[in-house]
Amino acid sequence: MVKNIMKDYNYFIIARVLHVLGIVIWIGGVAFVTTILIPSLRKLADADKRLELFETLEGRFAFQAKIVTLITGLSGLYMIYYLDVWSRYLALSFWWMHLMTFVWFVFTVVLFIFEPLFLHQWFHKQALKNSERAFFFLHTLHKILLTLSLIAIFGAVAGVRGF
Ligand code: HEM
Repeated sequence: MVKNIMKDYNYFIIARVLHVLGIVIWIGGVAFVTTILIPSLRKLADADKRLELFETLEGRFAFQAKIVTLITGLSGLYMIYYLDVWSRYLALSFWWMHLMTFVWFVFTVVLFIFEPLFLHQWFHKQALKNSERAFFFLHTLHKILLTLSLIAIFGAVAGVRGF
């Protein structure tokens, strides 16, 4: 009995470790794209080169992000199941649970549905029409998502410890 409880608790710890590792790789990548990659690309004078570089680099990151999004979501769900804390979604004081899930949902929809369906082609067209405007728009969206992700991480780390 005690052995089984310890075994389940160890699975919970592993889920938490995977959750945090996934977030480090995923949101770290978003921070890199937002604060280094896109600003550097916006400084490039050659608009065609800018688009080509962006599509190659972001394409690789999107593949990695898909895998870590899955790991983060599954480990998060397992932790909710283990802790039996579904009711947190009903309490405003657990706003960081709502925000974490919202951030995850936005990335999942963009990476798995919007990107392959239309977003990739739409951005390509916009960048050919007016590269400066398209990259400004892209940068703004990345800034919003990065800010929301960082607030979610702040809220979760503090909230888990009873802040
Ligand atoms: C479906 C999506 C997600 C679910 C279901 C979920 C669920 C959870 C749960 C249940 C916990 C443990 C809470 C506790 O111990 O009381 C947790 C911790 C945490 N989550 Fe999420 N999460 C999700 C997505 C995210 C995302 C997208 C982020 C980052 C932007 C994130 C960041 C964190 C952090 C930083 C912790 C605290 C780890 C610690 O300090 O021990 N989560 N999450």
